[in-house]
Amino acid sequence: MRTVTVSTPGKLMLFGEHAVVYDRPCLVTAVDQRMRVTIELTEEKVLMLDAPDVHVSGFVKPMDALGTGETPKGAQFVEVAIKNFLTKHPFSGGLKVSTASDFSSLFGFGSSSASTACVVKALAELSGKKMSQKQLFDISYKTVLDIQGKGSGFDVAAAIYGGTLYFVTGGKIIEPLKVKDMPLVIGYTGVKADTVTLMREVGEKMKAHPERVNRIYDAIAKLVEDAKGKMAEGDWERVGKLMDFNQEYLRDLGVSSEKLEALISTAKSAGAWGAKLSGAGGGDCMIALHPDGASGKRRIEDAITKVGGQVIHPDLIGAQGARVEA
Ligand code: PMV
Repeated sequence: MRTVTVSTPGKLMLFGEHAVVYDRPCLVTAVDQRMRVTIELTEEKVLMLDAPDVHVSGFVKPMDALGTGETPKGAQFVEVAIKNFLTKHPFSGGLKVSTASDFSSLFGFGSSSASTACVVKALAELSGKKMSQKQLFDISYKTVLDIQGKGSGFDVAAAIYGGTLYFVTGGKIIEPLKVKDMPLVIGYTGVKADTVTLMREVGEKMKAHPERVNRIYDAIAKLVEDAKGKMAEGDWERVGKLMDFNQEYLRDLGVSSEKLEALISTAKSAGAWGAKLSGAGGGDCMIALHPDGASGKRRIEDAITKVGGQVIHPDLIGAQGARVEA
């Protein structure tokens, strides 16, 4: 029986979180800590799933029951991604799926979106379908919406396309950018962010104060356009300033946290050109841009470690998108 292994990178939001859920652009980069999914075609018409990184082992469900009944949380994205793929491109038989990740599902690098994109790419390979990145994106994004109800799709875009992207809600624009040597520091707060809850809270603010929140989003959108240009020029000092402005707006939206603020102000005191939260907020990671090459980077990393942050080192920013491994 045929087997394929696909890997996808994790992601890191650089600019524009939350605003991108409401028809504005964001900037996202893929990080080379990868999710791997192996899928084997089987004769028996059941899905078998092992996903140790999200504590799922020996999950079995008949193929014709996918998307119905009880499913452990960690298995939902894989199950619904398979269902959505097969609805568009049916083939018979069963599937044995296993997942493995380089990164902890806690960091906010997007393990659910990375595994969703892996599954869709692997099924495209197994079924012999020639599918564009946009077609893979559309099935993956539908999966995110089916499960979360809301979301921009920036994370599945990063997993499929890789690199650094200028992205507009729902994949209206997915534009790869040429960005070199981003002097990035990543600090994990130790707190897992709850993206769905934060999106709901922000959604309630939007309902209660649409003018105010739309003003914030318009300002963030402007800043994203500015950052896009400055990143291409490699003007990291200016990009750092823009990160500071973006962080002020996120604070206004109420999605920052004490722990994030502690890491951000520590990074700034240690010389960072700018720093902000990355992702939904409330926890996950802080990102900063450092001056002075390796010594500037170490200075900031040492400082954030001292205040309880965990420095994360992806091997590469702007990593390759979904690829077949075997
Ligand atoms: O929590 P993360 O890293 O998945 O980022 C969420 C970013 C949001 O803009 C809040 C949601 C989205 O889908 O764009």
